[in-house]
Amino acid sequence: MRILAIETSCDETAIAMVEASGGRTRPVFHVAANVVASQTAIHKKWGGVVPNLARRAHEKNLIPILHKALKDAGQPKLKGKNEKGKMGVKIINLINTLLQRETELREQIIRFLARYDKPDINVVAVTYGPGLEPALWVGINFAKALALAWGKPLVAVNHMEGHIVASLLKLKSKNKKGKTTEKKPVPRITFPAVALLVSGGHTELVLIKDWTEYKVLGATLDDAAGEAFDKVARMLELGYPGGPTISRIADGWKPQITNHKSPIDYARGKRGKQTYSKTHMIKFPRPMLHSRDLNFSFSGLKTAVLYYLQKQKRPFARTLVANVAASFQQAVVDVLVAKTLRAVKTYKPKTVLLGGGVAANEALRLQLADALSAQFPQTALLLPEKSFTGDNAAMIAAAAYFHAKKKAYANARTLRAEGGARL
Ligand code: KG4
Ligand code: ZN
Repeated sequence: MRILAIETSCDETAIAMVEASGGRTRPVFHVAANVVASQTAIHKKWGGVVPNLARRAHEKNLIPILHKALKDAGQPKLKGKNEKGKMGVKIINLINTLLQRETELREQIIRFLARYDKPDINVVAVTYGPGLEPALWVGINFAKALALAWGKPLVAVNHMEGHIVASLLKLKSKNKKGKTTEKKPVPRITFPAVALLVSGGHTELVLIKDWTEYKVLGATLDDAAGEAFDKVARMLELGYPGGPTISRIADGWKPQITNHKSPIDYARGKRGKQTYSKTHMIKFPRPMLHSRDLNFSFSGLKTAVLYYLQKQKRPFARTLVANVAASFQQAVVDVLVAKTLRAVKTYKPKTVLLGGGVAANEALRLQLADALSAQFPQTALLLPEKSFTGDNAAMIAAAAYFHAKKKAYANARTLRAEGGARL
């Protein structure tokens, strides 16, 4: 099954083409195209994502990205001479109605559909939520227009379901002879499974009884893990988004290094060996570490970092920034690992999956893997390739596969954005 997926829930415009096959325990996904256009540069100066700016950027980006994705996948085909420029009045009317507000996108899509043949796909998939509604709507209206114009079924995907299945995606790499090979085989998935989802908007532990059957076991009561990373990064004046910078500083933590101009230079510079030791750790709280439930809370930790920094001299010394980054990261990782182990102990899953932007965090990946193999050696851990941790459309295509197999299609006329959608 060939799936074209569209993701616009936040500040990444993404389109992917994925060829999916196999059953529920051994699904195989070939990512033929995975195009992601990040809007970080647009939102940076506001210190966070501005919904209307995101919507406008998606509107501008979608057609060029669709073109690139189809090209990467060996499509699109130009229409034949006799077909060129021809489009049914019915379809043009439909697109005019669907993309009433997205005038720029409407003109672009009509031009695109007049020029190119329909691609060789079976399904169009799109994220319907959770996320920023103005941003979600652009992707949804675009997907509806494509599905209707091409006569293909539409599948609506929950963004968090995408993060769950991201670890099933494999990267293709070229070998010496230029032949494309899979980087690693996908292991067998045995149910039940548990997913730890850690992104900028969510921190959740999810029980997966089977694909498309989810139960949220616990979630954050306040800030999400990624949000806490971003806020602490802002306190440390490390820019936006801060998660990757904090983790680079924390992982290369060498307090004795002094020949870097600023923490950012330090982060961008050579990675030191991981040398942090307990003696240099600042004692930050591990909120809800011992609570009996599977919920999280990170706002107290964030406030503890704020109070700590208020007592420090400005500008912050590099060693201080490194100490805070490493100590904060360790506090978050301790809580995430402990709660995941608690979920494993209670629900005895055969597989644990990690997903979301924070899944790129090396300390989290390593420590989760170590703790699981030490305490639950029978439980398999699936970590996503780093290129699939952040928002992308390949993961939306993978999630769509399980719905499409059941023919659980969305109504292309009535599908709506759901900013607060739950699993
Ligand atoms: O899943 P994602 O790309 O977007 C949402 O759906 O929210 O997650 C983005 C979040 C941001 O908060 C970012 O700072 C965080 O993931 N992040 C990281 C790392 N890379 C990205 N946090 C910690 N360590 C990282 N290496
Ligand atoms: Zn996400």
